[in-house]
Amino acid sequence: MNQTVNEARVPALSDVYEDYFSIGAAVNPLTLGTQKELLTKHFNSMTAENEMKFEALQPEFNRFTFDTADKMVAFAQAHDMKMRGHTLIWHNQTPDWMFLQRDGTTIDRETLLERMKKHIKTVMERYKGKIYCWDVVNEAVADEGEAILRPSKWTDIIGESFIEYAFKYAHKADPNALLFYNDYNACHPHKRDKIYQLVKGLIDKGVPIHGIGLQAHWNIVDPSYDDIKRAIETYASLGLNIHFTEMDVSVFEYHDRRTELLEPTEEMISRQADRYHTFFEIFRSYADVIDSVTFWGVADDYTWLDDFPVTGRKNWPFVFDAKHQPKSAFWNILDF
Ligand code: GLA
Repeated sequence: MNQTVNEARVPALSDVYEDYFSIGAAVNPLTLGTQKELLTKHFNSMTAENEMKFEALQPEFNRFTFDTADKMVAFAQAHDMKMRGHTLIWHNQTPDWMFLQRDGTTIDRETLLERMKKHIKTVMERYKGKIYCWDVVNEAVADEGEAILRPSKWTDIIGESFIEYAFKYAHKADPNALLFYNDYNACHPHKRDKIYQLVKGLIDKGVPIHGIGLQAHWNIVDPSYDDIKRAIETYASLGLNIHFTEMDVSVFEYHDRRTELLEPTEEMISRQADRYHTFFEIFRSYADVIDSVTFWGVADDYTWLDDFPVTGRKNWPFVFDAKHQPKSAFWNILDF
């Protein structure tokens, strides 16, 4: 593993990338403390990992809980960081009450639209001018099959138009906020084409949408560089802005379910460093359409991948190691 390096000689990522795009990190109340130094030195944008999701902001009907989210916004402002809002409408981490009447039966379409509007309005108005862009709809597209959208309570009760309503309500709540559609596997050709069709349909109807978020939960083999380039070109052809919103690079291939490693192998670290180098080479070459690259965390001591897809298995997906030292991947994304 890397030796401790002289901190003063480590350039700040966000300085190096100043002329290209902002460099973000997902944070939570724990990492805002434990990773504060790295965060404030290297990053000029942040996203709440879970604290602005529906269940966190409105756990019960009409009871909004903003304390933790407010603190995060205050942190971003105190450290001169931009903030991405994540996320308003999603099939996950949305409480059941949203779709139910008091007697436990499913609500009707009009009521769900009212509740959607209320949530979006309340949240976005609160953070007007403080959160510059929102992932308005997250992960609505189906991975497999011909249908564009995945079935969900949103499609069941409102129908496919739930997406346009979400964007219209968001635009009304904060006309200055940039509004994004965000998804994973967004570089895989089949899903890419569906996301393209979905978003093109929205644009053709005049729905206010300004960007596409590609989550970028990637690994040492997937996706291919060509697929990344094609995806960027396809989405950019819609005239929209591109954000990479949740980047991490697992040292395991998706189907590798080994659990015995206590440290990454040298080979993993070197393949990961090569991958990071080429990813950032691609990002730089498309910097005219990419405005933001956000990692889904900061350093290897904390990552959701420690529990996904194998519960309790350590992963090392970032450019800083568990001791907050720069890895070879870090030096590789500076070296052009
Ligand atoms: C998705 C969501 C994120 C987060 C990750 C896993 O990508 O968009 O909010 O839940 O999964 O941590």
